[in-house]
Amino acid sequence: VESTIDSETDVPIGGLLVAVLVVSADPYLRGLIRSNNAFKPNDIISGFVAGKVLKANQVDKWVEGDLFGGTLPFSTHQVLSTESVAKIWKLSEFIDESDISAGIGILGMPGATAFGGLCDVLRPEPGETIFISAAAGAVGGLVASIAKTVYGLYVIGSCGGEDKVKLLQSSGHFDEVIDYKKFTTAAELANALRAAAPKGVDMYFENVGGIHFEAALAVLNDHGRVAVCGQISEYNQAQPKPFSLHALPLIYKSQRIEGFISSSWISGKIGQGKWIKDLHLWYKEGKISKQETVTEGIENWPFAFISLFEGANIGKVVVRV
Ligand SMILES: NC(=O)c1ccc[n+]([C@@H]2O[C@H](COP(=O)([O-])OP(=O)(O)OC[C@H]3O[C@@H](n4cnc5c(N)ncnc54)[C@H](OP(=O)(O)O)[C@@H]3O)[C@@H](O)[C@H]2O)c1
Repeated sequence: VESTIDSETDVPIGGLLVAVLVVSADPYLRGLIRSNNAFKPNDIISGFVAGKVLKANQVDKWVEGDLFGGTLPFSTHQVLSTESVAKIWKLSEFIDESDISAGIGILGMPGATAFGGLCDVLRPEPGETIFISAAAGAVGGLVASIAKTVYGLYVIGSCGGEDKVKLLQSSGHFDEVIDYKKFTTAAELANALRAAAPKGVDMYFENVGGIHFEAALAVLNDHGRVAVCGQISEYNQAQPKPFSLHALPLIYKSQRIEGFISSSWISGKIGQGKWIKDLHLWYKEGKISKQETVTEGIENWPFAFISLFEGANIGKVVVRV
C-alpha cells in the first residue's frame, strides 16, 4: 500500500519523520501472526527496525540525520508521535549509516538477548562449559562468540546440517559442534553431548526446545544453569508437545532453569543499558562481528521470515528496505 506524507504539515511538534532502512525478521513474530489478537488482516506488522531521522520537529535529543533502532510498523517512511519517539533508541553514537544493520542485530534485540541470557542469567565462571542450540543463528552465534572471546569458555554448539557444522568449526568460537539432524531422540543427542563435553555441561543456552532441552538437562552438571531463551522447534506445532520435567535433580544438583525476555534489557529495567555499551565495545575490539543473511526489498520480508523456520539463514536475518 502506498500513501503520501507531507513533511511540512504531517510531523507534529515533538514528533519525527523517519526512514526505515532495515527491517528484522525474528522467530517470535510467528506466535503473534498465529494468535488471533496481535495482528488483524490488513494490519501492518510491527517489529524491530533501524533507520534514520529525516525531520525532527522540536524533539528533545533528536536531530535530522540521527540513526535509531526500535519497534515500529514495517513501512518505509513514517511519522512518529511523541509517544512513539519514547520507544526508539539512538544508534548514532555507536554506528554510522553503512553499519545500520547492526541496529537490528548486535546492537539490537538479538544483542540484548545474547547479553542478557549469557552475562546476567547464566553468569559464566572461568573454565566452565556452555552448550548453545541454534548456534549458527543470530542469537546463538553471538552467544558463542561472547562465550569464547570474552569469557574464554569451552563452547559446544548444535546446528542443522554439515555445511553449518563446517562453518561453525571454522569460526574459532567453538570447541565442538554437533549436527543435531543426525539424531531423533533426546538420548542420542545426550550421548553426543557427553562425547563433546568431557567435563559435562555447566550452562545451556536454550533456543530450540524438544529433544535439545531434554538432552541438555540429562548432561547438566551440579550447579548447572539453563537460560530458556526460545523454543523454535515448537512454534509451528499445532499443539505444544507435552514435556515432563523431573524436578528432583534440580534439588540435589542445585541446578537453575530460568526464562528471560530481551525487553527487560532493551528497556534498561535490567542493567540500565550496559548491554549495548559492552556489545559496542566488544564489536569495536573485534571480539564479536556481524554475521548476516541479507534479503533485498521490504516486499520480500515473508521469504526472509520463513527462512528462519527452514534453517536457511546463517546469523541475523536482515531485510534491506
Ligand atoms: N527470549 C527472548 O527475548 C528472545 C529474543 C530473541 C530470540 N529468542 C529466541 O531465540 C531463538 C533463536 O532466535 P534467532 O532470532 O537467533 O533465530 P536464528 O537462530 O537466527 O534462526 C532460527 C534457527 O533455528 C533453527 N531451527 C528452526 N527450526 C528448528 C527446529 N524445528 N529444530 C531445531 N532448530 C530449528 C534453524 O537453525 P538450524 O539450521 O541450525 O536448524 C534456524 O536457522 C528462537 O527460539 C527465538 O524465539 C528469544
